[in-house]
Amino acid sequence: MKHIYQQGSDLTAPVLVLFHGTGGTEQDLLPLAQAISPTSSVLSVRGNVLENGMPRFFRRLSEGIFDEEDLIFRTKEVYDFLDAAAVEHGFDRCNVVAIGYSNGANIAGSLLFHYPDALRAAILHHPMVPRRGLQLPDLTNTPVFIGAGKNDPICSPEESEELERLLSDAGSDVHVHWENSGHQLTRSEVFAAAEWLKGIS
Ligand code: MLT
Repeated sequence: MKHIYQQGSDLTAPVLVLFHGTGGTEQDLLPLAQAISPTSSVLSVRGNVLENGMPRFFRRLSEGIFDEEDLIFRTKEVYDFLDAAAVEHGFDRCNVVAIGYSNGANIAGSLLFHYPDALRAAILHHPMVPRRGLQLPDLTNTPVFIGAGKNDPICSPEESEELERLLSDAGSDVHVHWENSGHQLTRSEVFAAAEWLKGIS
């Protein structure tokens, strides 16, 4: 997958894996990584799917309706890519924390839904429930931060709460940070994510 890797000054800090939103690129979230954990190594990935020229991490049939077969295929593709990137760049595969926004949060959420050991932790900004009717893996050791907007028209508060419940039921320690805003990523949400990561590192 097309990506940027930047080695950090602290090799024991969590390795941040960045997943952009629809229409973004691997450049977009680099400032976020800097704000959340400036000494971390960073792997920023570009989604392999194009929707009218806009990069994404998996296909959708319409807004909020995912192509489930493609989601499963792309989730494995990202999982395998993380394994290969850890070998290529020499980072600790067991210390990977995902940071995703919107579609990027949904692929990171899908990694959690499908693999017990994909991530050490995840910061999901404005995620949705990636799949329903699935038995989730044991996520006891995989804490999750969810940044949600009370007025988010894409990821409704009800869906954020459903995601919180599904992850908690799988054993994850989930922290939901609420903003009064909509789908946009706010500064205070990023600050809250940075504080949360300090607490679990
Ligand atoms: C998705 O397709 O992953 C969500 O609808 C968020 C987005 O608009 O990218």
